[in-house]
Amino acid sequence: MTISDADLRAMLDLARRAATEAGSMVVQTPVHTVRASTKSSPTDFVTEMDRAAEQLILETILAARPDDGLMGEEGAAKASESGISWLIDPIDGTTNYLRGLPNFSVSIAAATEDETLAGVVYDPTLGETFTAIRNQGAALNGVPIECSRSPLAESIIGTGFSYSAAERERQAEMLRAVLPAVGDIRRPGSAAISLCWVACGRLDAFYEADLEPWDFAAGSLIAQEAGADVQGAERDQADHHLIIASAPTVTAGLRQLLREKPWESQ
Ligand code: IPD
Ligand code: CA
Ligand code: CA
Repeated sequence: MTISDADLRAMLDLARRAATEAGSMVVQTPVHTVRASTKSSPTDFVTEMDRAAEQLILETILAARPDDGLMGEEGAAKASESGISWLIDPIDGTTNYLRGLPNFSVSIAAATEDETLAGVVYDPTLGETFTAIRNQGAALNGVPIECSRSPLAESIIGTGFSYSAAERERQAEMLRAVLPAVGDIRRPGSAAISLCWVACGRLDAFYEADLEPWDFAAGSLIAQEAGADVQGAERDQADHHLIIASAPTVTAGLRQLLREKPWESQ
């Protein structure tokens, strides 16, 4: 499938517009007025704002590209007739959003069956828009960004945890291996933002097991286009088992730490 540069830029512009509109809507509504309910566990929340943001994004995308497919966290599902599909997380970091904490984002990626082509992560609290087009680099608010060059012992590593207690048990084991060998750990609460923070060098790496495609599609392209290594468990493509996005200076050491841990036995 051949896609022109002009088409790629148009897809990125569309994703940026949809993400900005949705993120602005989210922060303009006082959070205490928003109804919330739980999904997979008592700590896995969805709000009416997650659903409204997803609806706005899908209407914006389909108005411009009616033949494309969609997959959104809150249920958007449409098969693609064009070969392009959109992966949408309308609010990544819903727990932060509901608690009045910073660090939630709108994440939108355009992909073929084989690869992500363009991605946008919009953080409405900081007014930061991270963007990337495959093979054309990554940017923060239009300014090109690069990942860091820190050594592992001084690195700040981001991670995140699942809503499932059993899964968190495994994630605690992984953390136990990593924590003594690195500078420090952060748990920002939005996987999409964490990946973008690797892209611009605020974090030296991010890893998380048990993510969904809409959590990492846009952010992993942005990290990769900023020079980070983005891999899964076996140096293959990142997937829901594990994603490791790391500055090349920490990749080997971090993978070695994670290799010893229990996701391997699953
Ligand atoms: C979650 C966030 C969080 C990560 C969880 C995700 P949500 O997404 O990205 O940082 O640790 O694994 O599920 O539920 O806020 O869209
Ligand atoms: Ca998410
Ligand atoms: Ca979400």
